[in-house]
Amino acid sequence: MLKIKVNSLKPGVTLGKDIFTYDSKLLLPKGTIITQEHLDNLRARNIDDVFIMEAEAKVKPGRRFEDVYSDSLGVVRSFMLEAKLGKPLDFKDISDITDLLLEQVFDAGDLFRQMRLMKEKDDYLFTHSVNVALLCILMGRWLKCAPETIKELGEAGLLHDIGKVFIEDSILNKPAKLSDNEYEDMKKHTLMGYNLLAQYEWISSNIANAALMHHERADGSGYPMGTKGYSKNLCVSVVAVADVYDAVTSTRVYSSKRSPYTAADILWQESFGKLNPRISKIFYDKITSFYIGNEVLLSNDKTGIVIYVDPSQPTRPIVMVGDIFYNLAIDRSISILEVID
Ligand SMILES: [Fe+2]
Ligand SMILES: [Fe+2]
Repeated sequence: MLKIKVNSLKPGVTLGKDIFTYDSKLLLPKGTIITQEHLDNLRARNIDDVFIMEAEAKVKPGRRFEDVYSDSLGVVRSFMLEAKLGKPLDFKDISDITDLLLEQVFDAGDLFRQMRLMKEKDDYLFTHSVNVALLCILMGRWLKCAPETIKELGEAGLLHDIGKVFIEDSILNKPAKLSDNEYEDMKKHTLMGYNLLAQYEWISSNIANAALMHHERADGSGYPMGTKGYSKNLCVSVVAVADVYDAVTSTRVYSSKRSPYTAADILWQESFGKLNPRISKIFYDKITSFYIGNEVLLSNDKTGIVIYVDPSQPTRPIVMVGDIFYNLAIDRSISILEVID
């Protein structure tokens, strides 16, 4: 069974669970085949989510990225809010939605474009979790991992920050730099996430470890434990790289988004002594090649098209502005501020 947003539901699917009104009257029984009239009625009653038969969700051909992304946000939001309320967790929703995300990650260039369009659709915690999951799946594919490993990477991405539901909103959404005490509290999301996930024997230890260790750095500068050395755990290393990339390229309450080129430069710098170099390097090498042909905004306020990426300096491409070519590998004073499309 799959929880799905009414807004992304199409007529013809079969309800997997009874739907009740807010005053507990049965509105539609399980097994009902949804019509447009039902959809209108559900929207009118402000019912946001319903359960549908999982098989239908899976066989539905060519589901649009936007719909899968939106469903994923719904599943992550429900899962995290239930965790916050101390309810017993059902991992099946996370597993099912990861299957759908797996189907969306094939063409990396298209994935980055789609993810750019999806930014700021929901609370940062939920969009960040879905983005990190997509990036983890992508890296799993680049690293040629087994299918079950790639799925586990996606699940680890979805749940790596689940401990943040236990952090006060005033800290989580503070539109300014955190005080030392607030930062100490924020760091606890790692341990709290781990403690929650480790209670469930059906959640793999790799996923729980990714929640615990994704902010650790090889030079000992990370948290919560400040462990030194590179983790041998693939989930931990992949989630850490995806986490940095998405955090840098997203708008957050205390900072505006930065370009994928800046994120790639940060990954490159952090591959020396902080993040797993094999994994951050593969990301750095590949990511910038997907922006050839994209329009970018330069730091000299001009917009142009990326026309060539030198593999030895992938974040310093040649950009064409009108009939002028800027070779950023030579002209170091100019940088790419933003990918426009
Ligand atoms: Fe985190
Ligand atoms: Fe994160």
